[in-house]
Amino acid sequence: MQVETGVNLKPYNTFGLPAVARSLVRITRDADVRAVVDHPKLGRASKFVLGGGSNIVLTRDMPQVVLKIEVRGNRLVERREDAWIVEAGAGENWHEFVTWTLDQGWPGLENLGLIPGTVGAAPVQNIGAYGLELAQRFESLDAVDLVTGRSVTLSGASCGFGYRDSVFKHALAGRSVIMRVRFRLPRPWQPVLGYLDLERKIAQTGITAPSARQIFDWVCAIRRSKLPDPAIVGNAGSFFKNPLVTPEQCRDIIGRDPEVVHYPMADGRVKLAAGWLIDSCGWKGKTVGKAGVYEKQALVLVNRGDAIGSEVMTLARAIQESVYGKFGIRLELEPVVV
Ligand code: EPU
Repeated sequence: MQVETGVNLKPYNTFGLPAVARSLVRITRDADVRAVVDHPKLGRASKFVLGGGSNIVLTRDMPQVVLKIEVRGNRLVERREDAWIVEAGAGENWHEFVTWTLDQGWPGLENLGLIPGTVGAAPVQNIGAYGLELAQRFESLDAVDLVTGRSVTLSGASCGFGYRDSVFKHALAGRSVIMRVRFRLPRPWQPVLGYLDLERKIAQTGITAPSARQIFDWVCAIRRSKLPDPAIVGNAGSFFKNPLVTPEQCRDIIGRDPEVVHYPMADGRVKLAAGWLIDSCGWKGKTVGKAGVYEKQALVLVNRGDAIGSEVMTLARAIQESVYGKFGIRLELEPVVV
């Protein structure tokens, strides 16, 4: 095990925020985690698991031991009658993994194309887009416990998936290192086309029975048209969760502004588009310090060049206050703030 010290994390977070890790260990296999757990000094220190760095806001240097996950490898685990079971190392790039499954002829993840980050980070926030959530394609994952050093396998039920949420943000936060994730891709394949943007593509192109590859291409085109590429403009994807409100609250908001974008949920609650709420408070395209609100999607905060984490948080708080002032809704942050 090699311990690197004083590591600049700017290249390791998609927002491009500066922060120094006092110590960093690269993890490629379970034994690497056990070596950290058993280490006389590092074993007792608190740990921070870093994946693709696409869902974090670094506001300070990190006294924790940073475990940078670099577990590689994709494989077909099993070809069942009703599904392909496919596995990827936690350090694999998510989008490259999705592309690989499609290239192999195993569709099912196409709606989740072009989401930044790593495979290992995907279950933590139960990534979702264009009508599909990771939880719907999840089989199981392997993790190493940071206290005992033991390897464990978790089923979907043990992961406690919710909207942009899982047990890894709660009971297992800072406790578990995800090493490999397995996906269940149902056979026969069924397209997921219910999302408005995809319905629009069908109407525009006249392609009523798109292939998985076609859906993937549409999803990538939609994302490119409204979300910034982190390789060019630093960002962490959606900065706030879409809030869930009661039907009464929703009626009250419609009373204030009948245009509010809202979606009724299966459990009776209503999901509001946070991007719309922020947009209607006039934030789209605005800049405060070196942090800004993306011009094409108000839910995404961006680095206008050399921003620091505290500037991003100042902007985020100002947005939260103005949305609360206008609509009485408290927006929750989506990325993990460190
Ligand atoms: N809208 C506005 N103004 C804006 C932004 C959005 O009026 O500035 C309106 C749009 O016109 C649309 C509605 O709000 O009617 C929803 O917008 P969109 O379809 O772009 O999706 P979203 O709710 O803003 C969510 C996810 C995204 C995911 C997309 C597509 C969350 C927090 N965000 O965004 O996920 O890609 O749906 O499924 O759930 C992420 O988590 O990082 C992320 C990008």
